[in-house]
Amino acid sequence: MGINQSQGIQHLYWGEKVPAEDCAPLLKPYDFPFNTNAEKEREEFSPWGGMFFAEPSLKVMFHDGVRDLKMICSGHTIREKQPESGETGGNNSFDELVIHMQDVKYGLRVSLFYRVAEDLDLIERHCSITNTGEAPILIENAASAVWNLSGAEARNYRLTHAAGKWGCENQLRRDLLSEGKKILESRQGFTSPTFNPWFAIDDGTAGETHGPVWFGALAWSGNWKITVEKTIFNRVRVVGGVNDFDFQWELKSGETFETPVFTGGYTSGGFGEMSRKLHQYQLAHVLPGPHAGKPTKILYNSWEATFFDVNEEEQMKLAQKAAEIGVELFVVDDGWFGTRNSDRSGLGDWTVNRKKFPSGLAPLIEHVNGLGMDFGIWVEPEMVNPDSELYKAHPDWVYQFPGREGSLGRNQLVLNLARDEVKAYILDFMTDLLEKNNIAFIKWDMNRSFSECGWMEVPRSKQREIWVRHIRNLYQIWHTLRQRFPEVMFESCSGGGGRIDLGIMHYADQFWTSDNTDAFDRLKIQYGYSYVYAPKAMMCWVTESPNSMNERKLSLTYRFHSAMTGSLGIGANLNHWNDEEKAEACRLISQYKEIRHIIQFGSVFRLLPPNDGNICAVQYVGEDKKESILFVFNHSQQFGETDLRIRLQGLDKNKKYEIGSPADFTMTGSGLMNLGLPVQLKGDFSSALIRLKILE
Ligand code: DGJ
Repeated sequence: MGINQSQGIQHLYWGEKVPAEDCAPLLKPYDFPFNTNAEKEREEFSPWGGMFFAEPSLKVMFHDGVRDLKMICSGHTIREKQPESGETGGNNSFDELVIHMQDVKYGLRVSLFYRVAEDLDLIERHCSITNTGEAPILIENAASAVWNLSGAEARNYRLTHAAGKWGCENQLRRDLLSEGKKILESRQGFTSPTFNPWFAIDDGTAGETHGPVWFGALAWSGNWKITVEKTIFNRVRVVGGVNDFDFQWELKSGETFETPVFTGGYTSGGFGEMSRKLHQYQLAHVLPGPHAGKPTKILYNSWEATFFDVNEEEQMKLAQKAAEIGVELFVVDDGWFGTRNSDRSGLGDWTVNRKKFPSGLAPLIEHVNGLGMDFGIWVEPEMVNPDSELYKAHPDWVYQFPGREGSLGRNQLVLNLARDEVKAYILDFMTDLLEKNNIAFIKWDMNRSFSECGWMEVPRSKQREIWVRHIRNLYQIWHTLRQRFPEVMFESCSGGGGRIDLGIMHYADQFWTSDNTDAFDRLKIQYGYSYVYAPKAMMCWVTESPNSMNERKLSLTYRFHSAMTGSLGIGANLNHWNDEEKAEACRLISQYKEIRHIIQFGSVFRLLPPNDGNICAVQYVGEDKKESILFVFNHSQQFGETDLRIRLQGLDKNKKYEIGSPADFTMTGSGLMNLGLPVQLKGDFSSALIRLKILE
């Protein structure tokens, strides 16, 4: 980028590294002589004002009704990387450029932040908007960043993104861009399963292993919007941040509004390389300490086994069985509190149900700990059932418009977390729960979209701030809890994978990926998830067969293999498993313990996608390239296709690898990556897990 003759910060180039001097000639105002200021389309930050008609990155109204912005660059600062603090998620580990912009007349200053993670070639961008005048300013739209793409290849640009729904999250879509806008967004108050806040654009030639890909992912768990706009001047602009729909923020004199971070990058190594960069970024810079560097524990969750019917005796029995097969963390899901016998009542009343747990949680926790496992528990703090003590005491704590009935979703209403007393209530009961019980893990759920989002107690100019305030308070609660209880791990869940994003990932150790636990459906969900998010944070449970979601019958081994491609959990009713099944589970769990460092901290290579052909293959290569794991899944046996050759990736081509454990045979890295590894799979829904190790 550079500052052109009209004082605009003009984007010049984004892609493979080229010398800056080659870009310099591009730095000139672009003149299009009819009704539009086309030059603005090339700016790094494009406030709404003047003859600018593309998607803006900032729109405000001043106290006198003026809604026009003319911003010029007023300088910049560069801060160099500080020594690592040992904590992840900090911004000290980046070099930072800040560009300062100023309206030509009004007291409005914008700072554009660029933090460069040089090792990964990624840039974290966001901006801050400050009112340096006397009177309040109303912000109507404040995007985090504008990503510019241009060049001859713009003709063939394709957008890849994720779309989905409950039970079917993260389905990949790839479409050619033509002029106009494609909007990916959530207006549901949370990230939502409908779209996920990331984009990937290629020039029409990229694949898994090759080709240019420009990509970005937004760190925000509330209403978000990413607009991918191809203009008539053949440029593609991606503008993203907090959704401007129903948004307004009153910025008083001296106040600053900070936008969420939008991380972006470029690779010439295709979608696979894009994903690996993003995974490494999350492991190094996003996932919170102190667990980010430690392997994720194998958990058991009783939800699918008991649903709301939890009680001390049955949970103790399940815990015993879970410990026997090698589980490390035992989690009690919904139903342990208040009158929570179904989803119709009790939500909000966070006191232990004494009919189910006569002496509180302590006996169960002691039992679980005595079996050598940690104890975890489910909560859904942002919600309330109308049939609850909390709602009776505080009917005004939910989002609502006066005189209008609120829509129920799963029989519940959304608490107005923009309110300080709601925030305090949640923080207090969570602190109490964690202080009084030896809880090592929280599954934080959130099971409905926001609706009728009225907040009538504050002046009208502030009522639309709820979309941002709710999420900021949520982040603050998680932040405070993590500080108070650093050893506790947190899982972000939202009716399955409705709250998976880089924003909550700063506070959450892992995500619940989907309520659909069918191991075959999961391959597609997990494939889409892996485009952006690290396998370590992807919770996958082995549940029962036939699966309650779609009645599909799958072998225990297949179910395990599918779940072992992320962080392994067990969600089946262990009372239903016979000795043979328990022995098989035991074997696979101990195998997972031996290989999880490769899956959780290594690099993933999507060799054959699950939605294209009958064979799906995914490979993990350890940090030092010495070990690798291959998973192969066959969903429908075709005649003559039992002897497969799977071409591996990411190995050392000059080294010899032992295949199998114990080793069956050896092959060179070069042979494995070019000839392919011979794999035999017979029968529908058969699967294989193959271990490879460098022969020293
Ligand atoms: C939705 C979650 O995704 C499930 O795993 C389970 O925790 C239920 N909520 C409990 O109500």
